[in-house]
Amino acid sequence: MPTFTGEEAQEYDNRITRLVPGYELLHQLTNAQLSATLTDNAHILVVGAGTGKEIAALANINSTWQFTAQDTSADMLAIAKQRFIEQGIDARISIECQPVDKLKVKADAVLCLLVMHFVEDNGDKKQLLKGIKNNLKKSAPVFIADLMRPETPFEREAQLNTCKELGLSETGKTQMAHNLEREFYPLDRMRFSELLNECGFGIPKLYFKALGFSGYVV
Ligand SMILES: C[S@@+](CC[C@H](N)C(=O)[O-])C[C@H]1O[C@@H](n2cnc3c(N)ncnc32)[C@H](O)[C@@H]1O
Repeated sequence: MPTFTGEEAQEYDNRITRLVPGYELLHQLTNAQLSATLTDNAHILVVGAGTGKEIAALANINSTWQFTAQDTSADMLAIAKQRFIEQGIDARISIECQPVDKLKVKADAVLCLLVMHFVEDNGDKKQLLKGIKNNLKKSAPVFIADLMRPETPFEREAQLNTCKELGLSETGKTQMAHNLEREFYPLDRMRFSELLNECGFGIPKLYFKALGFSGYVV
């Protein structure tokens, strides 16, 4: 299981585009949807903000938007903080290194990109989703992108081959194959919808799909 600490945090930005086919497109399309739906002075909660890439791009789209950058890894958030300072946007961002259910925000939109597949479906995913729900204004959109259960017997192999084409080494491919099998907690569409329903959300609408990675708005 990735820890998102130390060297893993330092190397994150270099590695992620080789591990998630369509990573940049996912961010671009999510940001396009936010631009199409939010007005000035919106507050966006980014759950699992990591090294701050989503926020750095969104802050450029609208200079009145404010953000909460939440993550459970202090090392990832330290990199995000440095990025925000260098970009001159730090005054618009509150950084929160604590679980989302401890926050007190009323967000106009929430992003939770590439986070929930690291959380076990033993009550922990539900806790995360309920935390999101409690920090959201009524009817505000939530964008969730996750690794899903494969829909064909060859999807994972296709994904690994694509990662290799994106520059992942043979050792990296072997490690990723192990992680996909053992270290992630992907859901199928039925369970995903059921869980959202149990947490008070509506029907998820697919807006992004690249091999095993799906993006939904709810
Ligand atoms: C793959 S990174 C995604 C970062 C960023 N959203 C992106 O798209 O680049 C996953 C992030 O989720 C964070 N994370 C894992 N479990 C979490 C949880 N329960 N609550 C909040 N963040 C979590 C990790 O620390 C890491 O920064």
